[in-house]
Amino acid sequence: MSFNKELVNLDSKEGHSPFSLQLKEDYFILFYMENISSLSISEIVSKDYRAALVFRSFGIDFCCKGHETISEASRRKKTDPQLILEKLIEVVTSPTEESFDFKNWPLSLLANYIENKHHAMIRERVPLIRKFLKRAVNVHGSHEPNLKKIKALFQDSTDNLQKHLEQEELIVFPFIRKISSDPDRKNLLLGPSFQPISELIYHLMVEHEEEEAIWEEIRKLTHNYSPPDYACNTYKVAFALLEEFDVSLQKHMHLERNILFPQAIALNLEKNLN
Ligand SMILES: [Fe+2]
Ligand SMILES: [Fe+2]
Repeated sequence: MSFNKELVNLDSKEGHSPFSLQLKEDYFILFYMENISSLSISEIVSKDYRAALVFRSFGIDFCCKGHETISEASRRKKTDPQLILEKLIEVVTSPTEESFDFKNWPLSLLANYIENKHHAMIRERVPLIRKFLKRAVNVHGSHEPNLKKIKALFQDSTDNLQKHLEQEELIVFPFIRKISSDPDRKNLLLGPSFQPISELIYHLMVEHEEEEAIWEEIRKLTHNYSPPDYACNTYKVAFALLEEFDVSLQKHMHLERNILFPQAIALNLEKNLN
């Protein structure tokens, strides 16, 4: 969470009491709220791109009018600044998934998690990122040909993902939920289309590799999501959103490739051998 590092040095405040986590959070929120009011919207977005989405949801321009503070912008927009602060805090303090022990989760729970978190994130972010990339291409595309290539690669990746998610949600995940919850079903080796489920899973894994190749190219063209110094906030946020999408997609594919799919195939084989 980049806000913590920039605005608050929490390490020196950490104690050992059972309440330290709560204190840490309260301290962070107090500190954050005191400091944030003196920063401009564009400075806040530079520290954590997720703030851009919050400002956008309140109709606040973080690009051309980014010099305003939250109170100035909310006065102009006739919005309660407290609401904006609360939303910002909610976004920057949201938990990360690094602490979850996915390997020991029931497969049906893991399938639900992937669908509710990662698939939903893809569906939510795709139209937004396409819009940001389109704007960045319109403004900078003539002198930065790579931007058009990045936009085209993102389009390819997400068109393919749309079909990929459907295959998982309509065929593979329901199958996984069935084998993990019903120990007596032994006739589930075949999916609804009479294609062995392991073959379908193999096909999905190949698609993951194709996605990885596209994103490797995007990383190269964006110089690992580093916009040039002259980039406007829209350009910067487009790259930051792409990076967030890339990180989430990598985690998503890791959960399927290394945990969900191999465990499902092993469980299915076990059930058919018994
Ligand atoms: Fe998936
Ligand atoms: Fe997948």
